[in-house]
Amino acid sequence: MRLDRRLSELALGTRKEVQEIVRRGRVQVNGVSVRDSGMHTEDTDVLCVDGKVLDARRERHIMLNKPEGVLTAARDKKQRTVMDLLEPVHASLSCMPVGRLDRDTTGLLLFTTDGELSHRLLSPARHVDKVYRAVTDLPLSPADVEVFSAGMDLGDFVAAPAGLVIEDTHTATVTVHEGKFHQVRRMFEKVGKTVVKLDRIAFGPLTLDMALARGAWRELEDEEIRALYQHAGMEHE
Ligand code: URA
Repeated sequence: MRLDRRLSELALGTRKEVQEIVRRGRVQVNGVSVRDSGMHTEDTDVLCVDGKVLDARRERHIMLNKPEGVLTAARDKKQRTVMDLLEPVHASLSCMPVGRLDRDTTGLLLFTTDGELSHRLLSPARHVDKVYRAVTDLPLSPADVEVFSAGMDLGDFVAAPAGLVIEDTHTATVTVHEGKFHQVRRMFEKVGKTVVKLDRIAFGPLTLDMALARGAWRELEDEEIRALYQHAGMEHE
């Protein structure tokens, strides 16, 4: 890839801006100062700007602990989106959310630059488990567990059997492998309860890192990345 495109992709500026940075001799490729912003670069080249090595990886996988009140969208004219919680380089590399959480749902949201991985993890055929902790307005009962485990007709689709484990009167963990719009909230509505808090604690092989504050993110560890690719039935490296 051309050097200017690469630097721009790493969110160092527009194509024009990075061309100026290169022209001023601020960029080194593999330790050599360069002035030609059109030069070809390999993904393995070490890029420095002002003597600082850039993190030039084009593949990124991130776990965000999503806070309330933030949209899962690439951008929005008025409201804060999950992309605003990451670094500009993530949007620039198209490190995008895998699926969605409602504005007021908190917890684990995965981002990846790998479109195929994302597509597979979201495919209904793959049955990737999502685990939520839900707090309800009214007490939960063993009868609710039965209804969830039988599957339920939500009007526009029939939800597959879901696991409901009651933790205390108003709190339960729910495991679903589908991801329809407002699905978990709608399943609780069906048994006469309103979800007042919804937090995703697991997605496929990933569990929410409790050390992450709401709104904080971290890169996935190698082991987590391996597990995700395995879950998606894909080879990685
Ligand atoms: N189900 C919901 O109702 N909301 C979410 O954010 C995720 C699953």
